[in-house]
Amino acid sequence: MILTYKNKQAKNDIISGNSKAKFEVIFGVGAKNKLIHADNLSALKTLLGDYAAKVDLIYIDPPFATNGHFKISDDRANTISSSNGDAIAYSDTLIGTDFLEFLRERLIFLRELLSERGSIYLHIDYKIGHYVKIIMDEVFGINNFRNDITRIKCNPKNFSRKAYGNIKDVILFYSKSENPIWNEPRLPFSDADEERLFKKVDKDGRRYTTIPLHAPGETANGKTGKEWRGIQPPKGRHWRSAPAALEEWDKQGLIEWSANGVPRKKNYLDEKNGKKMQDIWEFKDPQYPQYPTEKSLDLLKFIVEASSNEGDLVLDCFCGSGTTLIAAQELGRNWIGIDKSEQAIKVAQKKLAKMPSSLFSNVEYEFLKEL
Ligand SMILES: C[S@@+](CC[C@H](N)C(=O)[O-])C[C@H]1O[C@@H](n2cnc3c(N)ncnc32)[C@H](O)[C@@H]1O
Repeated sequence: MILTYKNKQAKNDIISGNSKAKFEVIFGVGAKNKLIHADNLSALKTLLGDYAAKVDLIYIDPPFATNGHFKISDDRANTISSSNGDAIAYSDTLIGTDFLEFLRERLIFLRELLSERGSIYLHIDYKIGHYVKIIMDEVFGINNFRNDITRIKCNPKNFSRKAYGNIKDVILFYSKSENPIWNEPRLPFSDADEERLFKKVDKDGRRYTTIPLHAPGETANGKTGKEWRGIQPPKGRHWRSAPAALEEWDKQGLIEWSANGVPRKKNYLDEKNGKKMQDIWEFKDPQYPQYPTEKSLDLLKFIVEASSNEGDLVLDCFCGSGTTLIAAQELGRNWIGIDKSEQAIKVAQKKLAKMPSSLFSNVEYEFLKEL
């Protein structure tokens, strides 16, 4: 499925047609981390020279085609307005297919920058997000689509319009290939989970549940397909271990026998490493943002930890106040941030400079400005 629209350019024309940015290094010559003040299209093209297939993780939070202006205002940093005197941080005035093509151009360069095991997370809202999903499928391949994460961003709002409230936005997660960097995030079980999922308690007070002693799949010739204690695994299934291991489990009290002689494996809560993270996340945005639409640092740290390793390179080419860069820095990753707004660059520099000295002492970054 491909989205067709009038102003859609050929991929090759995008790659060959955009001019590179010329950068002036403001300080930190040669440092691994870079804060680039430029339009990201020309900056990405320039970066392709040195960083093709070298970026391990990309997070972007582009404008959402809201047709508004976002202002730096201490008390109302997230409101859209154009009539008072606050400094405009950035304008979000591309809409419809102009917006989609603006994003597609950048995504095409971003794919070239991603390493084979790299991933991209794209933050977008519920109004334009479904069109962006189709563009992402086209650029990264529908097979590389991993999740559309629902992010709960704020407390419920009581809009007067005749519709349900909106407390979520969307994060589209794609990998470059089948085997992305992945540090499985695990969450602790809540008390309610423990009671619901591990209903039984043994004589030592340990919570557990039981699962079938067999699993799907035939092993016609293997040991796990053989009879054990006079019982054959059901058709299409095999024992979880060979009969000798089942004997050992039984000796250790790890098998529970039902009244009518059906064995099940005991799974203890205290041997589990929490539960899998699902695709509805609650990471509310900062209550006192320093920049409009500033995202939660915890959200960014979560993504950086799950999809990159120490020493990897993280890129955010709509970096705003630098939330991604701070997360990457705190977690020992290298980073490149790009933004064309002077206000964004100022806030990002201020936030980087405020990092605890133990973390900041080895923050070296090149500050580049487009000429
Ligand atoms: C939604 S904000 C990002 C906020 C950021 N995630 C944070 O936590 O602060 C989008 C940013 O994209 C930047 N931007 C928009 N168009 C751009 C372009 N063509 N090149 C570089 N930056 C751009 C804007 O200046 C703005 O700072």
